[in-house]
Amino acid sequence: MNHLIVVAHPSETSFTMALTRSYAAELEMLGHDMRTCDLYRTGFDPVLTAHELLPANSDHPARSDVVKAQDEIRAADALTVVYPLWWMSMPAMMKGYIDRVFARGFAYEAREGAIRGLLSGKKAVLITISGAPLPVLTKNGRWNAVQVLQDTHILRSTGFDLLEHLHFDEVVPGLPKAAAEEHFLRVRACARQHFSPHSLK
Ligand SMILES: Cc1cc2nc3c(=O)[nH]c(=O)nc-3n(C[C@H](O)[C@H](O)[C@H](O)COP(=O)(O)O)c2cc1C
Repeated sequence: MNHLIVVAHPSETSFTMALTRSYAAELEMLGHDMRTCDLYRTGFDPVLTAHELLPANSDHPARSDVVKAQDEIRAADALTVVYPLWWMSMPAMMKGYIDRVFARGFAYEAREGAIRGLLSGKKAVLITISGAPLPVLTKNGRWNAVQVLQDTHILRSTGFDLLEHLHFDEVVPGLPKAAAEEHFLRVRACARQHFSPHSLK
């Protein structure tokens, strides 16, 4: 299978980036073709311009970085999106990627207020990280908001078959090494669960 991993974290030495590397290493061990789109390190421009709101045609060609990113999604059988929850949402960098790359006509069509996803047939995994404990987020309704807006409104609405939303909670500065190692095992197990040759049969 062809995999695309899209990740947003400003620090290369963050838990988020280490988690992403573990997941990618497991996919590689399983024999998959895999590409990581590291939005900060590649300097992705997250600002959608007025030009991009015009219908793409020869007078208004799509910007080359968006064309490249859309080609990467087209080529992928599975998309994995990784980011820390900031204000219970995605970092602005990831939001800008979604705004620009998941464009109308590529990721969805909208008619009479209803959205039809255009990316069906592709699988997705969403991996998020929070400082707060998951039971607290569930109790105060924040987790439901995350699921409605990020799992359903973005990934499922555009047609992806969302295999799993894997969440790592209580990730705070100074996380003990043993806890981090456990998380790395968990993210590897997620890759194996969905993408080992056995589970793909
Ligand atoms: C700008 C910002 C906003 C944050 N907002 C939240 C939040 O709303 N809820 C939460 O549980 N954690 C929040 N956090 C904590 C991060 O989710 C958590 O510390 C981070 O994901 C840990 O992973 P990292 O070491 O890879 O950064 C926030 C952190 C930052 C920097």
